Amino acid sequence: MIATEAKPIEPSVALPPVTREIYREGMASLAAAVNVIASDGAAGPAGFTATAVTSVTDDPPTLLVCLNRQSSAAPAVLTNKVVSVNALAPGHETVSSLFGGKTPMAERFAAASWTRGMTGAPLLQDALVSFDCRVTETVEVGTHVILMCEVVDVRANQRDAALVYFRRGYQAVRG
Ligand SMILES: Cc1cc2nc3c(=O)[nH]c(=O)nc-3n(C[C@H](O)[C@H](O)[C@H](O)COP(=O)(O)O)c2cc1C
Repeated sequence: MIATEAKPIEPSVALPPVTREIYREGMASLAAAVNVIASDGAAGPAGFTATAVTSVTDDPPTLLVCLNRQSSAAPAVLTNKVVSVNALAPGHETVSSLFGGKTPMAERFAAASWTRGMTGAPLLQDALVSFDCRVTETVEVGTHVILMCEVVDVRANQRDAALVYFRRGYQAVRG
């Protein structure tokens, strides 16, 4: 039930800003699946770890991925315009950390086994599921760019647990 004494704030009233720190502290309690986003093409292989991944619609099948424009993977992803979205499982913590930043691309990809998707994007061989996608649209918001990813192929593996990021640590969710 919504408390009746709580009056909504008028839109014209200035509110104290929600700082990056307050926002990030709140986001730490939003549990999220951990994914590696991988790309290849004219600009070469690139990849990064992402929890900012969600379904947009199943018609046409579309995912969105939020990518930091300052990240080392961004120029190649935006040039190649193809990505795979690979959902991680327990045991992938090291892969997640390597793709999570500050590691040369060759070292990131050397830490796991890959196959090639129809788009040319690398697919993580033992992912829970891999979505092979074309980037059809991009939208810049603040520090990030939202990639609209049209799914052209889905490859699922028989794995019984998912890797989730919650309160700044990895957790296993069993099915
Ligand atoms: C658990 C986890 C989740 C992350 N989620 C995202 C995300 O959704 N979007 C993003 O741009 N970066 C995300 N990052 C950070 C990128 O993976 C990382 O910043 C990226 O690889 C850039 O680092 P680099 O510039 O050293 O390559 C995440 C990192 C971790 C460890």
